[in-house]
Amino acid sequence: MRVLSGIQPTGRPHWGNYFGAIRQYIDLQNGNEAYYFIANLHALTTVRDAAQLRQNSHDAALDLLALGLDPNRATLFVQSDVPEVSELCWLLMSGASMGLLERCVSYKDKVSKGLPANVGLFTYPVLQAADILSYDAEVVPVGQDQVQHIEVCRDLAQSFNHHFGETFVVPKPRVLEASAKVPGTDGEKMSKSYDNAIEIFEPLKPQRKKIMRITTDSRPMEEAKEPEGDHLYQLFACFAEPPALAEMAAMYRRGGFGYGEVKKAIADAAEQYFAEPRAKREELAAQPEKVAEILADGASRARKKAGEVLLRAQMACGVKG
Ligand code: ADP
Ligand code: TRP
Repeated sequence: MRVLSGIQPTGRPHWGNYFGAIRQYIDLQNGNEAYYFIANLHALTTVRDAAQLRQNSHDAALDLLALGLDPNRATLFVQSDVPEVSELCWLLMSGASMGLLERCVSYKDKVSKGLPANVGLFTYPVLQAADILSYDAEVVPVGQDQVQHIEVCRDLAQSFNHHFGETFVVPKPRVLEASAKVPGTDGEKMSKSYDNAIEIFEPLKPQRKKIMRITTDSRPMEEAKEPEGDHLYQLFACFAEPPALAEMAAMYRRGGFGYGEVKKAIADAAEQYFAEPRAKREELAAQPEKVAEILADGASRARKKAGEVLLRAQMACGVKG
């Protein structure tokens, strides 16, 4: 099947992003035609600093490649390198009702948090629909928070097809079940907006310190504890192989351990788990021309596909032919 997803280059990726999203993107590159892109045009609605946006976009490419995205299996590119998408966006915009976009929770949320309501933020889901439809994507792996945007995409595709004849493949969301899960340093859902995130590639020493400061309850050491539902146990479970995890669960149920031991186990496991990606990232960071080449190749493959779909849509609605 054809799979597509996009990641906004708005900050450093954390463990939640990896276990909730990135790991599945990487799994899906096997046996599918996969397209992954860095959504810099979407990020432009919130990142208003050119140097920062450029740096974030380059970093996002390094992160994905270091974490295992294989440019020989998946097509990796930067959104703005495919101008066909922005053109398709206009064709979709002309048929999108205000009401459909006014109902979008992510827009309402951002505005209620006091972000200035720019038009790009409002029409964000239409650009996202153009991203998806441009590659005839059948499946879009996303976190729960993005499902409404995929519904908007389906709605826009179906109404275009209904009005102008069969043009677009109508995609389905694939919700990543793990995505609600990974807890942050305060025990709440890890998120870069809550200041509780542990970044994948932050230097090991401060990372370990951060892990050792994770909030815990004050039950006595001797007390036997139920592992399920404990955030330290959940974090350890992200990294551990089944035997090590079973051992940890048994230790919880026996009692007589300190949370410090669990934290240390998490820090060790994380260090080992991401050791190879860390090394790979450093290696890639020293070869910016190689990364540029991968992205240029991805963009040219992506443009070929997006160009075909754009022409199909232009013919259907009468702006070409
Ligand atoms: P953040 O909440 O840090 O801003 P994003 O909203 O940019 O993260 O999320 C990018 C992807 O990572 C989404 O698919 C989302 O579902 C996933 N994700 C984010 N935080 C977590 C988490 N704590 N646990 C699991 N998945 C997460
Ligand atoms: N809106 C998505 C997010 O914030 C990123 C994104 C942009 C995307 N275009 C996409 C995801 C197309 C899936 C498909 O996470």
